[in-house]
Amino acid sequence: MSAPLIEITDAVVYRGNTRVFDGFNLTLAQNESTAILGPNGAGKTTLLKLLTRELYPLWREFPVVRILGQERGDIWSLRSQLGIISNDLHEQYSPTVCGEEVVLSGFFASVGVWGHQRVDREQRLQAREILGRLGIEDLAQRAFGSLSTGQQRRLLMARALANDPPNLVLDEPTSGLDLSATFQYLQVMRELISSGHTLILVTHHIHEIPPEISRVVLLNKGRVWADGPKNEVLTPENLSELYGVDVSLVDSGGWYQAVPA
Ligand SMILES: Nc1ncnc2c1ncn2[C@@H]1O[C@H](COP(=O)(O)OP(=O)(O)OP(=O)(O)O)[C@@H](O)[C@H]1O
Ligand SMILES: [Mg+2]
Repeated sequence: MSAPLIEITDAVVYRGNTRVFDGFNLTLAQNESTAILGPNGAGKTTLLKLLTRELYPLWREFPVVRILGQERGDIWSLRSQLGIISNDLHEQYSPTVCGEEVVLSGFFASVGVWGHQRVDREQRLQAREILGRLGIEDLAQRAFGSLSTGQQRRLLMARALANDPPNLVLDEPTSGLDLSATFQYLQVMRELISSGHTLILVTHHIHEIPPEISRVVLLNKGRVWADGPKNEVLTPENLSELYGVDVSLVDSGGWYQAVPA
């Protein structure tokens, strides 16, 4: 049995003066792709930031957060195990870096490529390959700041996939993507899951949960509100209660869509 991707035991997590988690428990296995949903402010991004070690819980006498079995560990080797797409990452990019550098920075789990990071020929070829696979070769030489939000997002997707990490941590990855880019992203994610990658996906878009994702966690006010198989957790009753609006669910070949009841 491989160690869980993340194992959180009784975590207390502050952001600023806000106690976001107070006795939070959750374990996410490797090889079990999971969608995490919940109202604005529920703690979804906070959870992902524990996983990427951008945030730490309050210290306890027992290990509160273990990632891939490790209580602590080299953050850079951890990052090579995780591809990340998030708004925070998006905002860290300088407007002057070119598209290719955004993708290459994925090899170093950094923001941009710096002088001391030697990019080898193999990495350049891989970056080209992923740009081609996503159909955005034309963005390679463009300055990040000169691109539309969706074009920037597509480069971040290429960055996350650059070194083919076994796990992908996605915080509202499709924000700003048009329909065609969204569908292409969904296709890539489905292929990744089928080839053994693990996705941890935070989204507000129920129709963007690939059929291959079998587990759903619903968060509310810093707590796990529901957790289990998708067909048991994603129900009109649960969603109506969680969001406080009348929700009806449409199931189309394993894809769900929430519509007003
Ligand atoms: N830097 C911060 N300082 C203080 N409070 C914060 C900070 N960042 C987040 N919070 C608070 O932490 C709580 C959880 O925020 P989080 O970003 O995890 O929510 P979320 O579920 O990702 O919401 P959304 O769907 O809007 O992205 C919210 O109450 C938020 O106001
Ligand atoms: Mg968030």
